[in-house]
Amino acid sequence: MGRILAAFYDLMLARAERSCLRAWRAELLADAGGEVLEIGAGTGLDLPHYRRAQVRRLVLAEPDPAMRRRLGRRLAADAFTAGEIVDARAEALPFGDASFDCVVSALVLCSVGDPRLALAELHRVLRPGGRLLLLEHVAAAPDSRLHRWQRRIDPLWRRCAGGCRLVRETRAALVDAGFAVDALERRELRGVPSLVRPAIFGSAPRR
Ligand SMILES: C[S@@+](CC[C@H](N)C(=O)[O-])C[C@H]1O[C@@H](n2cnc3c(N)ncnc32)[C@H](O)[C@@H]1O
Repeated sequence: MGRILAAFYDLMLARAERSCLRAWRAELLADAGGEVLEIGAGTGLDLPHYRRAQVRRLVLAEPDPAMRRRLGRRLAADAFTAGEIVDARAEALPFGDASFDCVVSALVLCSVGDPRLALAELHRVLRPGGRLLLLEHVAAAPDSRLHRWQRRIDPLWRRCAGGCRLVRETRAALVDAGFAVDALERRELRGVPSLVRPAIFGSAPRR
């Protein structure tokens, strides 16, 4: 991400947070409980939405040092004692098999270098019956005008937006990695450029 993007991250997301993300985060995380891992936790915008009474342990994995510093400040201010921060990429998680009841990914699978490896790791660290809770922007419907624009702009977008990709087929990758996707909803993000509006939202249990 880098220091500049990290410094402006909350500001860049402010309109989307007001328009939909704040409500979506609260809805998604109402279901998070037990031992929870959040990947790419960023500046900690999810933190206020966890239900403390049902989260026994919260591990916030974030590989970017500038984002991690902001996350640390937010966690300290929040006084969420069950929370701990770990320097880790989703593709190489420093946890044993079946360590978590729940994994959370919010706007991260667009940015990971190797989504297949990352999803294999998320599957590995989840306990049988565990759930991946996700909120991700994804590729538009194939053959749509928006999809053609996403493909055109993707190389430039990737360079300017910290490695974020516009054309990730996350739903198909989840199926390949062994997650059930029946409960995932297609949604439209608001308060963002149209290129990043198509999204998926919900719970994907580990099969
Ligand atoms: C768009 S931000 C989302 C931050 C936060 N989850 C949110 O909802 O605001 C993407 C985050 O993913 C992190 N990230 C990038 N590559 C990653 C990887 N390979 N594994 C885990 N996190 C990654 C970035 O450092 C950044 O904090």
